Amino acid sequence: MTALKINGQKFDVDLPGDTPLLWVIREHLQLTGTKFGCGAGLCGACTVHQNGEAIRSCQTALSDVGDSEITTIEGLDPQGQHPLQVAWVKEQVPQCGYCQSGQIMQAAALLKQTPKPSDEEIVNAMDGNLCRCMAYIRIKKAIKSVAAANEQAGVQ
Ligand code: FES
Ligand code: FES
Repeated sequence: MTALKINGQKFDVDLPGDTPLLWVIREHLQLTGTKFGCGAGLCGACTVHQNGEAIRSCQTALSDVGDSEITTIEGLDPQGQHPLQVAWVKEQVPQCGYCQSGQIMQAAALLKQTPKPSDEEIVNAMDGNLCRCMAYIRIKKAIKSVAAANEQAGVQ
């Protein structure tokens, strides 16, 4: 039995240690906001946070999670009103939407560490999150709008 802390809640799961965290989240806990894209660490659709850092849950074994804090898109903000989620709606970012929870989780980790990222920092941080609908311009615009709001609010 492995004890997990996901979105502030404790779960006990009885699964082999090499089970990818993505399957624990989606299949066993039914938190289906996190998506399966490539299953090989190449697309970012499965991005969640481990202690605030963006990780690829398809490449993270259950045994590597330990007692760390995992956050999925469902737990990013209790009301779904994280500034990035608000900006995503305002800028009408998604097309099919499949990649978007991974994009938001990746961007949220960036802004937590660097509240006012430069264009280059945004591009570098988001580089591994692919979007088949090519929503890249709107993704960047939404991130920049939150960065600008942070700048205005004097967030350090
Ligand atoms: S599904 Fe994990 S990186 Fe593509
Ligand atoms: S919005 Fe369709 S893959 Fe990104």
